[in-house]
Amino acid sequence: MLRTHTCGALRIEHVGIPVVLTGWVQRMRDKGGLIWIDLRDRYGITQLLLEEGRSSAELIEKARTLGREFVIQAQGNVIERVSKNPKLPTGDIEIDLTNLQVLNASKIPPFTIEDETDGGEELRMKYRYLDLRRNPLKNNLLLRHKLSLETRKYLDSQEFVEIETPYLIKSTPEGARDFVVPSRMNSGEFYALPQSPQTFKQLLMVAGYDRYYQLVKCFRDEDLRADRQPEFTQIDCEMAFVEQEDVLRTFEGMMRYLFQTVKGIKLPAFPRMSYEEAMKKYGSDKPDLRFGMEFVELNRWAQGKGFGVFDQAELVVGISVPGAADYTRKQLDQLTEFVKRPQIGAKGLVYVKYNEDKTFKSSVDKFFDHEALQQWAEAFGAQPGDLMFILSGAKDTVRVQLSGLRLEMADQLGLKKPEDYKPLWVTDFPLLEWDEDTQRFHAMHHPFTAPKPEEAHLLESDPGAVHANAYDMVINGVEIGGGSIRIHDEALQKKMFSALGFSEEEAKNQFGFLMNAFQYGAPPHGGIALGFDRLAAIFAGRDSIRDFIAFPKNNAGRDVMIDSPSTISEEQLEELRLKIVKEKE
Ligand code: AMO
Repeated sequence: MLRTHTCGALRIEHVGIPVVLTGWVQRMRDKGGLIWIDLRDRYGITQLLLEEGRSSAELIEKARTLGREFVIQAQGNVIERVSKNPKLPTGDIEIDLTNLQVLNASKIPPFTIEDETDGGEELRMKYRYLDLRRNPLKNNLLLRHKLSLETRKYLDSQEFVEIETPYLIKSTPEGARDFVVPSRMNSGEFYALPQSPQTFKQLLMVAGYDRYYQLVKCFRDEDLRADRQPEFTQIDCEMAFVEQEDVLRTFEGMMRYLFQTVKGIKLPAFPRMSYEEAMKKYGSDKPDLRFGMEFVELNRWAQGKGFGVFDQAELVVGISVPGAADYTRKQLDQLTEFVKRPQIGAKGLVYVKYNEDKTFKSSVDKFFDHEALQQWAEAFGAQPGDLMFILSGAKDTVRVQLSGLRLEMADQLGLKKPEDYKPLWVTDFPLLEWDEDTQRFHAMHHPFTAPKPEEAHLLESDPGAVHANAYDMVINGVEIGGGSIRIHDEALQKKMFSALGFSEEEAKNQFGFLMNAFQYGAPPHGGIALGFDRLAAIFAGRDSIRDFIAFPKNNAGRDVMIDSPSTISEEQLEELRLKIVKEKE
């Protein structure tokens, strides 16, 4: 080793011993007679000291040639600091330098390698290896490592076996577009990168491996957001001879284990909520339960009073925002603009201020008198000082719109406390959802999800009414994972493909391998996949997963550091028998 200790190791009890440290020059202060160098590595920072009269002139001269981010080897003796730094674990000591080697020089870095840096997002992405030297990113990656280790420990303790599945496969329909890879040896044919190992893990159940898991890369060509990357990692799991309850118990157990070991937090039992209840109360299938503002339906009180907008609506529904009655005209106008943005798409916003003096001030005073508004306040369980917001329209649309407003109000009032963890299971999803564009049903989860047995007979006559044995794990408004009990019966799987509008031929071409497998003793099975990047982000109380991935893509799906995607050479294209068709100008 080129060092005896790391830059995070030395304490007061090491005073007097000779050491060799290696690392990067974080900072240098040259006060004439005294020079301090902060030496940094993965483990911390240690201060090096040179003093005129004590250190050799040659050494001082050498130290003065150092620049930020130079890699050096420093030899010296541990001494007690005169002025200690209680913020640093190594703050009681410093190194009286006796020798110094420059292992490698560094250009001046394009941004400062500090916790708070001056570099913009794009620049930091281009020099990701420098950004990764900074503590915030380093801590994220260390947290991710700890999580993967503890995940493996837990699953191993539960008899799960990690088995790798291939990356060059054939398209699996999980709802996104596939990334495809041309095959040189099979001209004109393509592999697809897996959107998930779904079919393979089911085949492993048929093969008898009864508890499988894998920390696995998945690839989806979809629009990117803060919580979506084109390649991301799943904790992918499958179990045989289980029912929904067994899967929920196992993975609730895993989450509790992870929170306990990694964060020292004891999570309570996860509440369960049906999809229908989640939509009715929160307008979302991933409700954030860190705050209330449950939806209250007002049709009974708000309709038939001559206000046409409400009278014509399928649903009149609102939230009561605690302590917000002092919102100004300007703030209310801004919120009205907020709900009218295309992303939310409401036509307008009705507000009712429940003033501290128990009077009301609303945007619909013309139609609703004090008594009527009093009824609303009672329906909401509102207190003086609260502010009620009401939207109206078609049921499904207006619920989603109100959910957007609920989350915005939580943001404005600082109710999304990062370290307050509120997990839940959302269950009983519809099996299928109708797609207006293609005029056919899509699987809400995926085509291998089993219908609730008592509703399976409706698959042909009334497919839209069937619910699935499917479940999502949600924490703080984030869908951390999703899974289901699978179909393990060839005849039922055929029926499912037919409900999804596949011809028998198409089903056979795409999924013949799975249906064949179902003819050879497929056990009842089910599983789940958790988004590992999302899990890491939520453990750190953050929304964006990008900083929990060492080398992520930007919002345009590009890696700006290696400049990818990129064109390939004519020879490569020829070898693959591909031709680039230039779009017409
Ligand atoms: P699903 O598609 O719900 O299920 O994915 C499981 C979890 O993976 C995470 N996730 C993502 N994370 C980052 N970027 C993305 N683009 C992205 N897409 C999904 C989410 C999600 O909950 N095969 C099934 C699982 C099963 O049925 O067992 C599946 O992939 O956290």
